[in-house]
Amino acid sequence: MCRGLAALPFACFERAKEFKTRLRLLLHKTELGHELSSSKPLWGTKMRYSSEEVLGWKQSFDQLLKSKNGLSAFHTFLKTEFSEENLEFWLACEDYKKTRSKSKLASKANRIFEKFIQNEAPREVNIDHETRELTRKNLTSATSACFDEAQAKTRTLMEKDSYPRFLKSTSYWKMTEQASSHGTSKQSHT
Ligand SMILES: *[C@@H]1O[C@H](CO)[C@@H](O)[C@H](O)[C@H]1NC(C)=O
Repeated sequence: MCRGLAALPFACFERAKEFKTRLRLLLHKTELGHELSSSKPLWGTKMRYSSEEVLGWKQSFDQLLKSKNGLSAFHTFLKTEFSEENLEFWLACEDYKKTRSKSKLASKANRIFEKFIQNEAPREVNIDHETRELTRKNLTSATSACFDEAQAKTRTLMEKDSYPRFLKSTSYWKMTEQASSHGTSKQSHT
C-alpha cells in the first residue's frame, strides 16, 4: 500500500494514519451492528444514575465532561470506537494544568508527549503535524499552557465526532430509559 518508505516517510505516515482511521470506521460499523442486534447492554445494568444527570450529558459536551459518571460512560463508548486515547489525553491535560511544581511540570509534560503525541506514541492522539511540532517546541519551557492547543483540538474532535455518536448509541439510550424509570425526575425526554 505504501512504497518508498525510506524516501517518503511523512507521506507514508499520513497514509498509515488514514488507514487506521478507515479501519476504525469499519470496526465501528461492525460494532454498531453488533450492538443493535445484541440484547446485552455495553455496561452493567446495575449502574443507575439520576435522570437529571444522564439527560444533562446531552445538554452540552461540557456537562458530560464535568460529570464523573458521564466521563466513565463516554470512555466506555470510546473504547468501542477505538478512540479512547483522545479522552485520556484530554484528562491528562486537565491534571497537568493543576500541577504547581515547576520540576513536576517538566517531567509530566515529557511523559504526556511521549505517551500521546509523538509519532508512534503508544496512545497516539489524532492531531495534525503542525500542532504536534509546536507542542514539541513548547516542551523546552514547559508551562501549564503548553498543551493548550493540542488539548483544545482533541476536545473539538471528540465533540464533533464521537460525542454525537455517543448520544445516539443504544447504550446511552438505555441509560436514559433506566434513569427515567428509576430516577426522581418526572421530566420527559426532550
Ligand atoms: C504553546 O504554549 C503556549 C503558552 O506558552 C500556548 O499558548 C500555545 O497554545 C501552546 N501551543 C500549542 C500547540 O499547544
